[in-house]
Order: sequence, then structure tokens, then C-alpha cells
Amino acid sequence: MLDQIALRAELADHYDLSPSLKTAEATADIYARMSRVVSPPDWAVFAPYVAAINRLKAERNAVILAHNYMTPEIYHGVADVVGDSLQLAIEATEVNAEVIVQCGVHFMAETAKILNPGKTVLIPDSEAGCSLAESITAEGIAEMRAKYPGAPVVSYVNTTAEVKAASDICCTSSNAAQIVAAQESDTVIMTPDRYLARNVARQVPEKRIVWWEGACVVHERFTAQELREFREWNPGTRIIAHPECPPEVVAEADFSGSTSGIIAYVQHERPEKAMLVTECSMASNISDELPEVEFIGPCNMCPYMKKITLEKILWSLHSMQGAVEVDPGIADRARLAVQRMIDLSRRLAG
Ligand code: 13P
Ligand code: SF4
Repeated sequence: MLDQIALRAELADHYDLSPSLKTAEATADIYARMSRVVSPPDWAVFAPYVAAINRLKAERNAVILAHNYMTPEIYHGVADVVGDSLQLAIEATEVNAEVIVQCGVHFMAETAKILNPGKTVLIPDSEAGCSLAESITAEGIAEMRAKYPGAPVVSYVNTTAEVKAASDICCTSSNAAQIVAAQESDTVIMTPDRYLARNVARQVPEKRIVWWEGACVVHERFTAQELREFREWNPGTRIIAHPECPPEVVAEADFSGSTSGIIAYVQHERPEKAMLVTECSMASNISDELPEVEFIGPCNMCPYMKKITLEKILWSLHSMQGAVEVDPGIADRARLAVQRMIDLSRRLAG
């Protein structure tokens, strides 16, 4: 566990991190990307961290990969690459830098390490977990295989390296239906998200899909009733849901897709009012780019993603602590499952 007090004292010894109007002004071009959602006083606090991180990134030959759920000051301020899980996994195969800082949750950093065994992969807070990744172990996969002999195991990337190593292929929310449809067997095991599996089952009715009973603590909280009420109170609202939501929630939505799929849909459709049925930062990150779209609630916060802060990013680049390690034997087998997904995704995309 990070000692926040010691960390703060060490950073204060090396960097001037006090709120600074001068640094805020010098970074006005960066601030312009989030001025609708970050107030000027808040930017005066964030700007010295952003400037220090961007300087240190160059010194360390590091690249920052950030998930779409990062807060705006991370997403727009320090990230080199932003995206959904599939995009981040693909980008991780193409990185030239010696150091990767993964601003996301632990399974994402593990995936980057699996794909880059020779590079240093840092996660700013190793306790940034995921309720889905924590819901299943390799024993769980063995249990499913024993129950459904011969059925291939398609595991969501939201799993540990050990679980990926025990699976046949991975999937993400942007390619799950295609990966399942491409399996030869009539029965397919999907782990660990019961809602993603049920949403995929509706898209791929020709397959018998069996699933593990995991769920995302953020998306399982949305209800169909809540969406119906929002539509009634805000006629004309376009509702867009992530496929980790329960199927009855997805059924109420106008569109369902991965986090990047959601962003692309709003960028293309530009509805007057949009409700993103997913993590809160998503709407904040695209607010400045789409001022004509009014984003209305509700949103739920991912407590794991929110463990990643500017302060911890600066700390990890400064101290080079928090390097992710994966047992080489497990990494080799997990890489097969991730690489099969990437290759199949590319083939299917033509
Ligand atoms: P995406 O692959 O859609 O970004 O989803 C990752 C995730 O953790 C959503 O909760
Ligand atoms: Fe995991 Fe849900 Fe958080 Fe995504 S939003 S990292 S699935 S807990």
C-alpha cells in the first residue's frame, strides 16, 4: 500500500507542485480540452503536476496509456494514447518507449506486461482492481471446463493473467460477439461477466452460451426503470449503454458498445441530449469536444479506476516503483489468448 504522506513529502522535495497561475497559463492549450468540466482554480492545482509528469515522461522514455474512464486532467493532460481495453491492448503491442505507465486498472497493466515482457510496465496504484477480474480464478475456469467438456473458454480481458492463461481466447466489449460467433463449437463458455455473456447471447443466438456469475460493480447498478424514468423526464434523450449492464438495461438503450464505441457513436450522432450508461468520466472527457451535446445523468463511478490520480502517476514515474510482474510461464500462455483475440479481431475487421 502506498504511504500517501511519505509520497507527498518526497515529491515536494523534488518538484514545485503548489497551485500556480503561471503554470496554468503556460499550459492553457491543454486546459482548453477540458475547460467546460474543470474549473480554472482546479486547473491551477492540476497544472504543476501535468507539467512535471510530461517533463518526466520524456526523461524516462515513457508512454502513458490511459483508459477512457480516467478523469479529464489525466485523459487530456498527460495521456499519450487513450482508448478502450482493445485499443489499449493493441497499442501496447506497438509501443516504442522503454516504460509504459498504465493509467487504468491492474488487469490492463498486466495485459500490457504480457504483451511487452521486456519493458517496464508501471501502474500508479497496484490496488486499482476490478470486480470482474476478482470474481474468477484459474480453478473457476477448470470448473467450467469440467461442466462443459470440449467447449472453448472465451474470457473477457477483465481477468488476471492466470485466468487468461487458462482460457482459449480473450475478448473485450468491442469484439465479444464476433469472437464468440467465430468459435467452432456450438457451446461457448464466457467468463467472468454474466451480463456481457447474456448480451452477447442475444446477438449470437446460434450459439449456446454458458457463463460465470461475475458482474461489474459499476454497471450492474443501472436499472431499466431508471432509464425509462430519465427518458420520460427528458424526452429526446439518446441512451447509450455499455454491454456490462444487465440485458434489460441494454434493451432500453438506443445503442450499446464498448467505451470507445460509445464515444464514436456520440461523436457521429451528436444528439441534443445524451445519457451515457457507464462510468462518469466518459461524459466529462468528451464534453469540450461536443459542446452542442447535453450530457445528463445518472452515472456511476468506478472506485478502482478512480484510484489513479496525477499525484500517483508522478510518483510512479519519479520512483519507478509499481512495476507489474507476471510469471513468465503464465505470461506465455496468457499471451496466446490475448494474441489470438487481437489477430482474430484484425482478421474480422478486414
Ligand atoms: P471497455 O473495453 O469498453 O473500455 O471496457 C472496459 C471496462 O472495464 C468497462 O467497465
Ligand atoms: Fe472493472 Fe467495472 Fe471498474 Fe470496468 S468499471 S474496471 S469492469 S469494476
